Amino acid sequence: MSTLPPKKLFLITYGCQMNEYDSSKMADVLKQSHGYERTQVPEEADILLLNTCSVREKAQEKVFSELGRWRDWKTERPGRIIGVGGCVASQEGETITARAPHVDLVFGPQTLHRLPALLEETRASHKPAVDISFPEIEKFDRMPEPRAEGVTAFVSIMEGCSKYCTFCVVPYTRGHEVSRPLDDVLVECAQLAAQGVREITLLGQNVNAYRGPMTGTADLCDLALLINYLARIPGVERIRYTTSHPNEFSDALIDAFADEPKLANYLHLPVQSGSDRILGMMKRNYTKAQYLDKIRRVRAARPDIALSSDFIVGFPSETEDDFMETMDLIAQARFDSAYSFVYSPRPGTPAANLRDNVTLEEKNRRLHILQARIRQIDDEFKQNLVGTTQQILVEKPSVRGQGRIAGRTSTNRMVNFEGPESLIGQLVNVHITETQPNSLRGRLLS
Ligand code: SAM
Ligand code: F3S
Repeated sequence: MSTLPPKKLFLITYGCQMNEYDSSKMADVLKQSHGYERTQVPEEADILLLNTCSVREKAQEKVFSELGRWRDWKTERPGRIIGVGGCVASQEGETITARAPHVDLVFGPQTLHRLPALLEETRASHKPAVDISFPEIEKFDRMPEPRAEGVTAFVSIMEGCSKYCTFCVVPYTRGHEVSRPLDDVLVECAQLAAQGVREITLLGQNVNAYRGPMTGTADLCDLALLINYLARIPGVERIRYTTSHPNEFSDALIDAFADEPKLANYLHLPVQSGSDRILGMMKRNYTKAQYLDKIRRVRAARPDIALSSDFIVGFPSETEDDFMETMDLIAQARFDSAYSFVYSPRPGTPAANLRDNVTLEEKNRRLHILQARIRQIDDEFKQNLVGTTQQILVEKPSVRGQGRIAGRTSTNRMVNFEGPESLIGQLVNVHITETQPNSLRGRLLS
């Protein structure tokens, strides 16, 4: 008796780590419900999904040009299903199917667990199925058991954002902050650790706003306490979290860097600007001095920590002096990596109504200056690692091949070195010998 080949899912993801996480969950949900296997070849797919991002205009524009390309595949085989998920879906809803009638499914970040039901609905009705509601935490209750893919894993612990920075669309597309119960998070982490995961990155748009309900008490668990519990799960060797809001970066989280050795030597703390005037217009609710005070205290707790941030340049009315304040903040905080963007007006956000008198040319000039400065600090950071011994979590065979393996330092730097693949999943000591453009090289110590 011949068995039918598995049906294929082709999935494109735009945007942040939260979206990457959501995409892996979409694949898990459809594998469990309908047996779909992922493919990298769109032509052989039975279902094509686009997980979108609307944080900046460019990402949003890409959605409709990609959907235009997919129209031919649908014409070629009308039974193919085409779906759009993520923040653009959440924002645009039925406008997507009006503009691209070959789209069968539209679902938001909070309804991806309903994909199997939406799929059945569109197949039965031959009409598009749209669900962009915010059913809060239901999503996590309907997920299949987590599946480890290697020694590192992401675990989403909260959804949404309630901060309403004036430039940002996320609170409108992902809804307000909702935290998963502590027990659910710990069970997922323990299941991953039992499958060989050694490093867990806790995820959330504002991960340090986590306030998870705890069984048997009315108290809520914050991120510092969660880290404490997580560190006690057998097999968990390293903990990271991203992305954080400076106002939720509490004393308890600073203390965790002093007290919890499993907490990785890395912090991503988006600042956006160094100008108090611009920070006020962005509604960030902190000043440059307050931000730098937190950095000073975290450096006191972990002197060799790697620091990363997010920047927006060219916010409406940003002057050269405002920009120089940002450059001064970079010099003082010494960020060795960063995500930096030119301001992109987002429809429906308060900042979109501000008069913007900064030319695109000027914004790009500032962005290049900022990025060059971060690259310079990054080079110095990597150079300072040469000659030191670093603890590396071995993740995989090196892409450079030739008997080499690769893993990351606690400060999140990739290191390639000679060694047996049997070390994958272990923490080993490596002497750093040289820097490379995006990584380091080292020698395994016995
Ligand atoms: N929770 C984080 C924080 O405290 O800022 C931010 C998460 S946000 C989804 C990711 C990044 O996208 C922001 O830090 C910001 O730098 C960038 N971003 C958001 N809206 C933007 C816009 N309208 N234009 C350019 N960049 C934007
Ligand atoms: Fe966006 Fe500000 Fe929240 S940047 S995700 S509204 S903290």
